[in-house]
This record gives sequence, structure tokens and C-alpha cells, in this order.
Amino acid sequence: MAFVRLRSLRKNALLRDLVSETKLATGDFIMPYFVSEGKNKKQPIKSMPGIYRLSLENLIRDAKETKSLGIKAVLLFGVSTKKDIYGTEAYRNDGAVQKAIKEIKKNIKDIVVITDVCLCGYTTHGHCGILNAKRGANVDNDRTLKILAKVALSHAEAGADLVAPSAMMDGQVKTIRDAMDKHGLEETGILAYSAKYASNFYGPFREALDSRPQFGDRRSYQMDFRNSDEALREIGQDINEGADIVMVKPALGYLDIIRRAKQDFNIPLAAYNVSGEYSLVKLGSAKGLFDEKKIVLEILTSIKRAGADLIITYHAKEAAGWLKA
Ligand code: PBG
Repeated sequence: MAFVRLRSLRKNALLRDLVSETKLATGDFIMPYFVSEGKNKKQPIKSMPGIYRLSLENLIRDAKETKSLGIKAVLLFGVSTKKDIYGTEAYRNDGAVQKAIKEIKKNIKDIVVITDVCLCGYTTHGHCGILNAKRGANVDNDRTLKILAKVALSHAEAGADLVAPSAMMDGQVKTIRDAMDKHGLEETGILAYSAKYASNFYGPFREALDSRPQFGDRRSYQMDFRNSDEALREIGQDINEGADIVMVKPALGYLDIIRRAKQDFNIPLAAYNVSGEYSLVKLGSAKGLFDEKKIVLEILTSIKRAGADLIITYHAKEAAGWLKA
């Protein structure tokens, strides 16, 4: 025989399934939520069809559904209406996120609660840290660390299983680890947004949190999308600082980074299938450009095939339903 028989294993669905190398599973997904203040709120986010800002009781109802579909973890973002230049609302003990953590833990059994630790949704200027007027309104790394530690502590004290620092400040993982250890919260883990790129794919998310930077952009702290060696340095650094899980974000345009991270480090790896990636698929599918179910499962499988152990995705609930069917 002068050729290799490759097609024989593609002949029918049974054989294809038998030899498939990547198995996408509902247990891989993490469902993000936008938590708002108030009562009985369910406010659609226009640029993200199917995603809402939910107040507490609606969040609990939805998260129960998420859990019953087989999804094991949620990621919470707070929607702030009381922004200031320091983002002080982010660490209020009775803030929307802090209350949501407690309520989820009280009402839903065996669900992992992860919280985003950042200031951009809480500052009037929309940047991820505190600004230093002397340095041309640049983000002040070290002063921001102190606030991020307070935010993380408030989440950990409320009962979060993992805090997820996403501000891209140097030293944020170590600062948060030290602060939690000092307060007897050694059990709370850190999911680090280690390789987070300054990406155009975050557009719709910024509508959800009303967190668009009021001037400039995030390129002085988030990563340059021309780089990949640097992503490995960021990830290595976060592991040294005490991260339990590391993340690459966004996912789809960054599959090469996911692959390199998986090859270089043996630590759980998450990928964030971000808002812009979600909305492209949603709007395109609504226009009949693709079969939504098929394209979503292809995208999520690609992220897994690249090497992600966990996928944070707004498609989580729908995809879980499709995988069950
Ligand atoms: C906070 C944060 C952002 C996202 C997650 N955490 C926005 C940003 O950096 O501008 C984006 C998530 C998404 O687009 O789905 N810093």
C-alpha cells in the first residue's frame, strides 16, 4: 500500500467519535455574570444578545439553572452605579458582588464562585487602577495594588472560592496572596488573568459594565497583541507569585498563546472567550451567516484543543444544553 489510510476513520460518525482527540465537556465551562444592585432587575445588554445585568434574586435563579445544566463554576462582575476616582465601591462589604457571593453559597450547593478583581467597573475614568496625576494620568501600579488587595479580601471574606485579578498590575497576585494569608484566608485561591491582551474584543463587555476608559486606552498595562514570549513571562511570574490557575485572554485570536502556555507550564489553564467573540457569533448567527450551535461548539472545541482546561464563556449555558441533547 503506497498511502496511509486516514479517511477510513472518518467514514462514519461512530468511528469519528471513537478516535476524536478532543472531548469538549460541560464541566470545562465557567459562566460569567453581571451582578447589579436593586430588586428584580433583568436588564439586557444590547451588544450581547442573551446576556443581562441581573439583580440578586434573578442571579440566584439563573445560577441554579446553570448548575443544573452541569456547569460547576460562575464568574461574577459587579455593575456599579456609584463610581469614583478610586473605585471605592469595589471593596464595600455590602456591595452587589459581596452580597451575591454569600447568597449563591447559601442557596446553591457545590458551585465554585469566582470573582473578578479589578477597578475599571468602579472608577469614573474607567481605568483598571488609580491614576497618578504627576505622571500624565498614568495608572499608579503600587497604589492600585493596595486597593486590589482590599477588593480581593472583601470577596474572599464573603466566601469566594477563587479571586481573579484582572487589572494587569505588576505584583497583583503576590499582593493579594499575602493579604489573604495574613487574614486567615489561605484556602481562597487565585485565578490570575496572567496574559491579558489590550484587545478590541472587549468592546461589548465595556457596555455591560459601562467601563470604557474616558481617555486613552489600556495599552500601558494590558499586553501588546504582537507579543507571545512576553505572555509566557507574565504567566511564569504569576505562578511564582502564587497563582493557582492562570488564564489567557481573549481566546480565539490567541490560540497560539494557549498552546504555548499549556506546553510550558503544568498548572490548570483557563481561556476567556470574551464578549466580542461572543457577540460576533451571536449577531452573525442571527443574520443567518452560520448555524449557531455548530459554530459555537467548533469554537469552544478549538479553545480546548489548543490546550485550555477551563473555558470562561457567555455561551456556557447554551453549549451545555447542546452537549446534553
Ligand atoms: C476587567 C475585565 C475586562 C474583561 C474582563 N475583566 C475588560 C477590560 O479589560 O477592558 C473583558 C471580558 C470580556 O470582554 O468579556 N479589567
